[in-house]
Amino acid sequence: MLEIDELSHVYPNGVRALDRVTLSIKPGMFGLLGPNGAGKSTLMRCIATLQTPTSGALRFDGVEALTDPQAIRRRLGYLPQDFGVYPRVSAYDMLDHMAILKGLADPKARRAEVERLLDQVNLWAVRKKALSGYSGGMRQRFGVAQALLGQPSLIVVDEPTAGLDPEERNRFLDLLAGIGDKVVVILSTHIVEDVSDLCSAVAILAGGRILRQGAPGELVRELDGRLWTRPIARDELEPLKTHHQVISTRLSAGRTIVHVLAEDAPGPDFAPHSGSLADVYFSALAQARRAA
Ligand SMILES: Nc1ncnc2c1ncn2[C@@H]1O[C@H](COP(=O)(O)OP(=O)(O)O)[C@@H](O)[C@H]1O
Ligand SMILES: [Mg+2]
Repeated sequence: MLEIDELSHVYPNGVRALDRVTLSIKPGMFGLLGPNGAGKSTLMRCIATLQTPTSGALRFDGVEALTDPQAIRRRLGYLPQDFGVYPRVSAYDMLDHMAILKGLADPKARRAEVERLLDQVNLWAVRKKALSGYSGGMRQRFGVAQALLGQPSLIVVDEPTAGLDPEERNRFLDLLAGIGDKVVVILSTHIVEDVSDLCSAVAILAGGRILRQGAPGELVRELDGRLWTRPIARDELEPLKTHHQVISTRLSAGRTIVHVLAEDAPGPDFAPHSGSLADVYFSALAQARRAA
């Protein structure tokens, strides 16, 4: 279990990227959902012990990350948001090289591990191709292979689906889903569906603060009976917003559909709406904006 306790991070320029973040993360898929600038990558780097937080504590299975980062690193797999330049070496050679760095010294065992991982992430057929020629989806799958080296028990993947087309994204999420439920997997994303498709627990982060956390189903149930929907004309939106808490608007077949959070029906033409994780997310963001 990963315990994050009152973690704050302030960059030298004064930006408070994390503000007293407290989370308990059990084995399984955990989704960290938040918009750009929320602090996701900062939190991921702190968990990966690449960045020392300004204050607070991090513990993984009882080991303190701040005093014993090496012990965390030995058990960690990390796929950063920006993996950097992809070299003109083959996936096989690169993974083999990274396996050596990870401490897999025995050539026979290393070869078995590298081959197993290339197969697991579905890159076996293209293992001899240069990484520089890989598509976005293939790169991200290679990123997972390197994160899985050495059988980590804590895996951190930072916005892995950004920029993938829908087919690549599905394939990638399937791969993550197969990692297993004995491992803590933390997935950060700004895409609600990544989390609702995959994660048994979620936290919503914005402005460096945790706005909501729990099981997606529980968070959705908190909205029961408080969500209302109606198609509206374009010029109805602004008046509606002044009187009601509009949490989202979307276009559907040329009309604007609004979702409103209210204890009672906001008007005669509104229908009750059974919520989704997207409603939880947008209502949390709307409430945080109003409070700011
Ligand atoms: N190295 C840095 N120096 C100063 N500010 C930073 C740095 N990295 C990130 N920030 C700021 O911290 C906030 C959180 O950034 P980040 O953790 O990258 O969020 P996210 O990954 O959710 O987009 C943003 O306001 C960002 O501009
Ligand atoms: Mg980021």
